[in-house]
Amino acid sequence: MHVTREGTADWPIRISARRLVIREGTDRDRGAVIRLMTDPVTREYLGGTVDYTSRQALELSPLGLTWGRWVVCLADEDTMIGSISLDYDRGEPQLSYALLPEYVGHGFAAEACIAVLDWAQKNLEDDHVIAVTQARNKRSVTLLKRLGFTVRRGLEEFGAQQLLMERPLALALPEAEEVGSTGPQATASYR
Ligand SMILES: CC(C)(COP(=O)(O)OP(=O)(O)OC[C@H]1O[C@@H](n2cnc3c(N)ncnc32)[C@H](O)[C@@H]1OP(=O)(O)O)[C@@H](O)C(=O)NCCC(=O)NCCS
Repeated sequence: MHVTREGTADWPIRISARRLVIREGTDRDRGAVIRLMTDPVTREYLGGTVDYTSRQALELSPLGLTWGRWVVCLADEDTMIGSISLDYDRGEPQLSYALLPEYVGHGFAAEACIAVLDWAQKNLEDDHVIAVTQARNKRSVTLLKRLGFTVRRGLEEFGAQQLLMERPLALALPEAEEVGSTGPQATASYR
């Protein structure tokens, strides 16, 4: 597959993980996409919920066309539980992710990040993958550290203290099961 900063003609790209499928968004994901952008818990460290105009745009815009923007789904029922993306807005591949609140705390973000980073290792030629997260977003910072990211520098953006974190693209990836703080747990309680 030939991937450039503008993307690849091979989009959409689907990635499989143990419990998850990472795929392009479709019209049937629209309700979950809108909830992800408007849920106050999910948006707490992402600048708050999107405004009315952005929400209207989400109602109408085609989904799944933009390179590097995936939805994260439970593999067995194809239910969207969150989103994950890689973009080159800062000149390097930047990893971002969000889960709907009821799916937080089950290792799904770690599993999705490892799957996308594994894909990136095989297909991108950059030196590093970066991530920017609010310093007080404890869950996100913990996840990034467990994935092997370290702080490159702090920055102030959108009125908040942010950490710009980096990870050598070629660095070996942990197993998804190794990333949880208390090891594998029952995954049924989100239902
Ligand atoms: C940031 C965010 C994705 C982290 O989600 P998360 O579920 O905590 O992340 P992980 O996938 O690493 O899961 C770790 C948790 O799952 C638990 N877990 C359960 N089963 C697990 C398994 N099989 N493997 C790993 N962890 C598991 C871990 O013990 C840990 O829970 P704990 O912290 O309560 O002990 C989530 O809080 C979120 O969507 N926030 C809103 C959006 C956001 O802020 N995004 C950041 C933008 S950069």
